[in-house]
Amino acid sequence: MSQDNKFYITTPIYYPSGNPHIGHCYTTVACDVVARYKRAKGKDVMFLTGTDEHGQKIEEKAKAEGITPKEYVDKIVANFKKLWAYLGISYDRFIRTTDPYHEESVQKIFRTLYEKGYIYKGKYVGKYCTPCESFWTESQLIDGKCPDCGRDVIDSEEEAYFFALSRFAEPIRKLLTETDFLRPESRVNEMVKNFIDPGLEDLCVSRTSFKWGVPVDFDEGHVVYVWIDALSNYITALGYENSEYNDFDKYWPADMHIMAKEIIRFHSIIWPAILMALEVPLPKKVIGHGWIKFGDQKMSKSLGNVVDPFVLGERYGVDTVRYVILRDMQFGQDSAFTNESMITRINTDLANDLGNLLSRSVGMVQKYFGGTLPTERQAAPLDAEFEAQMTALLGKVEDALEEFHHADALSYIFALVSAANKYIDANEPWVLAKDMDKNSARLATVLYHLLETLRIVGIVLTPFMPSTTPHIFEQIAAGESITQWDKAGEYGLLPADVTVVKGENLFPRIDMEKELEALAALQGAPKEEEEPDNLITIDDFAKVELTVAKVLSCEKMEKADKLLKLKVNDGKRERQIVSGIAKDY
Ligand code: ME8
Ligand code: MG
Repeated sequence: MSQDNKFYITTPIYYPSGNPHIGHCYTTVACDVVARYKRAKGKDVMFLTGTDEHGQKIEEKAKAEGITPKEYVDKIVANFKKLWAYLGISYDRFIRTTDPYHEESVQKIFRTLYEKGYIYKGKYVGKYCTPCESFWTESQLIDGKCPDCGRDVIDSEEEAYFFALSRFAEPIRKLLTETDFLRPESRVNEMVKNFIDPGLEDLCVSRTSFKWGVPVDFDEGHVVYVWIDALSNYITALGYENSEYNDFDKYWPADMHIMAKEIIRFHSIIWPAILMALEVPLPKKVIGHGWIKFGDQKMSKSLGNVVDPFVLGERYGVDTVRYVILRDMQFGQDSAFTNESMITRINTDLANDLGNLLSRSVGMVQKYFGGTLPTERQAAPLDAEFEAQMTALLGKVEDALEEFHHADALSYIFALVSAANKYIDANEPWVLAKDMDKNSARLATVLYHLLETLRIVGIVLTPFMPSTTPHIFEQIAAGESITQWDKAGEYGLLPADVTVVKGENLFPRIDMEKELEALAALQGAPKEEEEPDNLITIDDFAKVELTVAKVLSCEKMEKADKLLKLKVNDGKRERQIVSGIAKDY
């Protein structure tokens, strides 16, 4: 039986068809924040991520590089793992769909569904492009031609297995409309309107057109459709139908499956149907977030508009990268990621607001009291309201994180930072300091409030910026016992005579103009791997003479497909050229 104190959260398993980018980082960092928060609350957390390694696309990419699919994915999976380590991702388990235990489980799952009558053999009817060896549906064609190569397609049939998805239409409709299984709610209507109302169709779940997949073990030549293979990871990684792990009973059902909107359909319709067919309990929640966009395009491997997370981390620090990718993603919406908005966030929130609050507060304790606060206090009317704001923060952050509303959580945290900076202005410590005999107790009270704000902010910021907040605690001398998660709900835990420790500036300001130029130069420079290797070097280029000439005549060479015979005049003389460009002109 699954226990109350556990928490199981998953990211999608990413395709290692290209290196990870900021989009993958968003989901993974956001899940990491929730996993850290739950651990801080004392939960027994299982945080799963991994890679989805089968399928035709990867098979083709490997072929193009002249290596095996496994060699191809090994290389890229290593980069995913390197990035997650770099970003401080605290995953508990990493599943690869090429792991033998997973493949074994997928075969058993497929066979079970077949034996129960939920998978049956039928015919996949569609369009086939012979040169590409690819099946397409009518709607995938572009002007009736193969969307990949533009050539003619033929009507085709392929023997295939189908999953009886249509039998689950009503239970799935209920699940989506009568429970809070899928969030945000706007996605519920979309799923029901677009997929359930028009009638759920059975799903083709095997292929014979390529090899790189999990073989159907009772019918040679068929491989399991990648989405059955992929979705199963959430249970095989716990040891469902395998002996690699055995904590399925402990952690299943998942508390949160997280993904972006383009794959909500798989997680909120197909996945629960498979689980119903297997008679396995359903996950508690499926949460689909929006896309990070770069300009107005989705950040994606194929578009090449990828901001390198390692580069950003080297320039601003890893925690700052974690912060900026979460900060502007309003839940359920898309967010634009621009270099400018990123630098603005760093300068305003981190450098100006938080960084300044820390350095000013610690600086004033040193300047006015030699680093140690005296214990006498003198309250003022505006203190109570400020204290109430401090102690209310914890609950707001928790509520937001329970719903995966990271940007809201961060805005509550930074609202308190702003309130603290206003509290400074309202109390004018520099004026109080002019008459220390009279104002020492009041000044100490004001500064104590600031240090307490930093302690509370530091605690709730820890899941977001885990390697930064220890430096805040060091400077305000807040020990472990008063920086535990729940201690953010209490005011007044720092010792009255706290001694601060001046440290380095945590968030240096960035010169916007210079930085934008530097980033543009970095992004403008093509990466080595993107450079086609048939280009000549700059030295070769210097030897080339480019000449403009007038074409006097042009005719096809007989008995040659590719050749054109041209007469040209380059201004000095007439020349005859034979050129292999007939296919293009
Ligand atoms: O779909 N903004 O893998 P994938 C926000 N293997 N999130 C983004 C993003 C963006 N611009 N780009 C990617 C697959 N993501 C399947 C999943 S799960 C059983 C199988 C994140 O490599 C987001 O979480 O295409 C999205 O859903 C996921 O990466 C897609 O990763
Ligand atoms: Mg995708």
